[in-house]
Amino acid sequence: MNILILGSGGREHALAWAALQNPKCDRLVVAPGNAGIARIAECAELDIDDGAAVAQFAAENAIDFVIVGPEAPLAAGVADEVRAAGILCFGPSADAARLEASKAFTKEICDAAGAPTAAWARFSDREAALAHVRKTGAPIVVKADGLAAGKGVVVAMDKHQAIDAIEEMFGGAFGGAGAEVVIEEFMEGEEASFFVLCDGETALAIGTAQDHKRIGEGDTGPNTGGMGAYSPAPVMTDAVTEAAMERIVRPTLREMAARGMPYSGVLYAGLMIRDGQPRLVEYNVRFGDPECQVLMLRLGAQAFDLMHACAEGRLAEMQVHWADDHAMTVVLAAAGYPGAYRKGDVIGGLDDLPSDSFHMVFHAGTREVDGRITANGGRVLNATARGASLAEARARAYALAEAVDWPGGVFRRDIGWRALGKD
Ligand code: AMP
Ligand code: GLY
Repeated sequence: MNILILGSGGREHALAWAALQNPKCDRLVVAPGNAGIARIAECAELDIDDGAAVAQFAAENAIDFVIVGPEAPLAAGVADEVRAAGILCFGPSADAARLEASKAFTKEICDAAGAPTAAWARFSDREAALAHVRKTGAPIVVKADGLAAGKGVVVAMDKHQAIDAIEEMFGGAFGGAGAEVVIEEFMEGEEASFFVLCDGETALAIGTAQDHKRIGEGDTGPNTGGMGAYSPAPVMTDAVTEAAMERIVRPTLREMAARGMPYSGVLYAGLMIRDGQPRLVEYNVRFGDPECQVLMLRLGAQAFDLMHACAEGRLAEMQVHWADDHAMTVVLAAAGYPGAYRKGDVIGGLDDLPSDSFHMVFHAGTREVDGRITANGGRVLNATARGASLAEARARAYALAEAVDWPGGVFRRDIGWRALGKD
């Protein structure tokens, strides 16, 4: 099979790696890819948010199956255009991708489906939003309705922060994404990421993970795209997983189908768990990054079969073969991230690192210059490892991270602290 993966992050390197583990993969193209992906697959320059361009490229290259990594092309309808061209695609339609692209849409679906989530209200008027915050007080959560590259959420611990966030969003800081604002009850608890494949009818849980969104150790400092993750998440016990599936995910999928927009692809439910009860924080319509890296390392070649069956509507005949293992990924970022950071540092030591089904350094923002790997983004590498215990996975992942020769790189030393603290 000829496969095209869209995206350029650590998530897409992990998806490409998983596809290549599977003998069904004859040819793999990734657009646009990165320097690590270029070492295992063909990379192609392509505007991945342009559905017509993607469909044309796929047709010209005899691509049988397109896997969409990030949310922007999904929200732009790329999966719809690929399917309209008669090519199999993993990823939801633009209509279904509103589960990530509009926070107010998601809240409406949750209410209609009876799925537990934070109490909420939507505002397109600044004064009304400010009045709401003055009345309700803090802590409170203010969200730009649309896609804002993970930056459109402010968890305000006092009223002033909430007011500043509202002023900023209505002031146009997030462009059209902030034209409408959702204000939510602040939920306490422990967060986890829950990944479910859906083919419009059948839902199949494929794994749990925990991300670390803050830049600093002890979960301090500004939010990032994610500084490290591990799988499974111990807080997702069988009972919590079952509750999340029965009370949140399945009712959502039924509601989407009833509205004529059946969901197909991976649904990533961000959950808040308190006293064994999960509530929905948000949906994403794609794999998490860096959660995907740990999921792929654990699933291996079957990940591709699962995505393929999902796209073909054959999930009912599939099951996930779980290994009793653990994986961790540690993100190496350019010093300064998520603020301003330097690009162009040469990164050494990568060729000497183990690269097998237990150890992988997935690339994110890297670029090859004169045969050398250079830093070309905020999040640059993902030192990822698997083991029989989380402690073993951690020891291996940190050994990889330490062995990377990049003085301008930083990483958190405490990935997994919640889970390991429970041992
Ligand atoms: P989101 O982009 O919706 O995932 O929000 C980013 C982060 O903000 C989440 O991962 C949570 O840590 C936090 N968050 C969002 N909504 C809430 C909420 N209602 N209560 C508490 N924390 C929240
Ligand atoms: N790691 C969080 C996300 O991908 O949204």
